[in-house]
This record gives sequence, structure tokens and C-alpha cells, in this order.
Amino acid sequence: MHPGAETAGLTLLRAAEAMPRSSAAAVRAVLAGIGSYLPETLVTNDDLSRTVETSDAWIRERTGIRQRYLAKPHETCAFMATRAAEAALRDAGASASDVDAVILATATPDQAFPATAVRVQAALGVRGFGFDLSAACSGFVYAVSMADALIKSGQARAVLVIGSEVYSRILNWQDRGTCVLFGDGAGAVLLRASDGSGADAGRGVLSTHLHSDGALGDILYVDGAVGQPDHPGHLIMNGKEVFRHAVTRMSETVDEALAANGLDRTAIDWLVPHQANMRIVDAIGKRLNLDDKKVVVTLDRHANTSAASIPLALSVAHAEGRLHQGQLVLLAALGGGLTWGSALIRL
Ligand code: ACO
Repeated sequence: MHPGAETAGLTLLRAAEAMPRSSAAAVRAVLAGIGSYLPETLVTNDDLSRTVETSDAWIRERTGIRQRYLAKPHETCAFMATRAAEAALRDAGASASDVDAVILATATPDQAFPATAVRVQAALGVRGFGFDLSAACSGFVYAVSMADALIKSGQARAVLVIGSEVYSRILNWQDRGTCVLFGDGAGAVLLRASDGSGADAGRGVLSTHLHSDGALGDILYVDGAVGQPDHPGHLIMNGKEVFRHAVTRMSETVDEALAANGLDRTAIDWLVPHQANMRIVDAIGKRLNLDDKKVVVTLDRHANTSAASIPLALSVAHAEGRLHQGQLVLLAALGGGLTWGSALIRL
């Protein structure tokens, strides 16, 4: 994908159980379109090593990251989200007038309020309503779950679900332990209601499972906010602890999703994990005994784009012609909070 391209216990929600799956008339949220936006500026590891004491070899070996895209001033969260949403609408053959709601997952909104989602709503010309969702790197999975619930409850028939992040603005560029890990970008999907009959039989979001544990809030956080005097904050991370929880929790949530649907691991066509670190992705693949070829990996190209990482990865897989109707796609994420969860989707 080229720069600037637009392509194609605690808290537990079981959306799958909210609607009887056996009912022929059950409404399903079908994935109708995927799009993304990457900033114009590509920054390689070698580029970074000119301003930060690091090396391409260190970053690649520890993380698998080769490069990332970093936003220019005009490439705000809303700007990128709008471009990604436009691409998703084009991919779905839909227009803004078809959309009832915009859910934007982000930790880096343009303003405290209004929600960046309503900026996107205005830019696109969507009626209905929009809101932002804060769940760090799990934001997109949380947003899919909320959209699925809106559609199943009849409150919306088509929902734009977007992850858009400009982490470059909350990174401490003097901290080589964190600044090399992240990138900027946006991804979006359009979910639309279907009665699950005809060509749509079996398709849609099959289940979502969400979790959070605030007791682990201090292993990955931003030490400031718009509400704090003169301190928007920087990202702080205990990498080893995050690594441990990421592997365990994301593996658990994959098995949880499969068990809830009476499926085993062989049923998965594509696992699309949050793109944090290749070592995390490899460890999950190994733990689940999944073929590497079934795991979508884009972090080498994009680095960690937080809530945007899963829809960006979906967009790349789609653009490369890997996604086909009828396939089973499992999204799994973990992020600051800690938050974690999964969404199982039949394309
Ligand atoms: N370049 C060169 N050297 C570095 C860099 C860098 N960018 N960063 C740290 N180092 C050095 C450290 O200073 C340290 O040097 P020292 O031994 O002389 O003191 C050495 O490398 C080891 O540092 P550690 O922090 O212990 O490195 P570690 O092996 O733990 O790797 C990493 C760090 C890759 C972040 C690892 O902890 C990890 O994989 N964590 C997973 C969490 C993650 O990827 N989070 C992403 C965001 S969270 C999320 O999305 C869910």
C-alpha cells in the first residue's frame, strides 16, 4: 500500500446471546465494506535512528516493525477517519445517506468535544448520530460490538465503525522504549443489517466478547489528558507486563469466541489480531496452534496503530484479495485499561 492510499468478568457482553441465532428472522450485522487511510509520510527504522538512539536491527528483532506512517498537522484523527470511512462506503457501494450511526474508536481525538465521530458525520453528510469510544487498542473490537448491538436492537440499520489514531502526538520522542513502536492511520468498516436470508445466510457478526480490568490500568497508560493543566500526556508502558497479558488474554478470548459458537480452532479462516508486536502475534499463533498463513500481519508496515490496527489489517487483507464471502474472521485485541476482547465475523 502506498503513502496516502485509501483502499480498500468484569465487563462481559455476549452480543451473540442477545439474539436467538436459530431464529430465521434474526437480524445480523453484515460486514459490507472496508476502507483505510495512511498518512503521507513514511518513516523507516533507519529514519528514526537519526533522531533517536536506536537501530533498524533492534526494532526489527524485538518487534518485527520495519516502518510506520506519521501524520502531518492536517492529518488529524477526524481527517484520516473521514478518508477511511469514505473508502469503506465506496467498497460497500453505499453512500452517507445509507448510514445511521458513526462509532469512532480513538485515544487521540481532535478535541475533548464534540466527539471526533460527529466531525466525521458532518464531513460525510451522515444523518443519525455519532460518538467516540475509548478502549485504547481494543477500541475497534469494542466499537464492532456496540455497532452489532445497535443493529440487532433495531436502533440502526447501517453503522460506520472506525478506528483512527495519531499516537505520534502522545509519544515521548525521547523515550526509545515506546516511540519506535507506534504509527498513525485509520481504518473503517460498514456494518449493515441483514435478515440473514438468501445470499446473506450465515453471514454477519456471530459474537463479541468484551472485558476490562481497571486494576491493571497502570501497566499501559497516558500520564495526562486535556482535562489536566498544560499536560496532554505521554504514553507510558511496562512492556514486559503488557507482553504477558497480551498473549494470555488474547489467546483466551479467541477460545472464548470459538466455544460460544461451538467451533474449534480449525474453523478460523483468518485471525486478525491487534498489531502490537510480532513476538506477541507469534506467541498467540503458537499457543493456539494456528497456521501462520491464517494470521493477518501488517505491523511490519504500519507499526502499532492502536484502535486503527485491526481495520487497517482487514483493509490490507481485503486489498490483497484474501477475504472471501463465507470465510470466518476472528478479531482479537488487547489494550490499555486493560481492555481486551474479540469479534467473530462470517464474511
Ligand atoms: N532501541 C535500542 N535499544 C532499546 C530500545 C530501542 N528502541 N528500546 C529499549 N532499548 C534498550 C533498553 O534501554 C535496554 O537496554 P539496557 O539493557 O542497556 O538497559 C534494552 O534495550 C532492553 O530493554 P527492555 O525494555 O527490557 O526491552 P525488551 O526486551 O523488554 O523489549 C519491548 C521491549 C519490545 C517493548 C518488549 O517489552 C515488548 O515486546 N513488549 C510488548 C508490549 C508491546 O509491544 N506494546 C506495544 C503497545 S501495547 C499494545 O498495543 C497492547
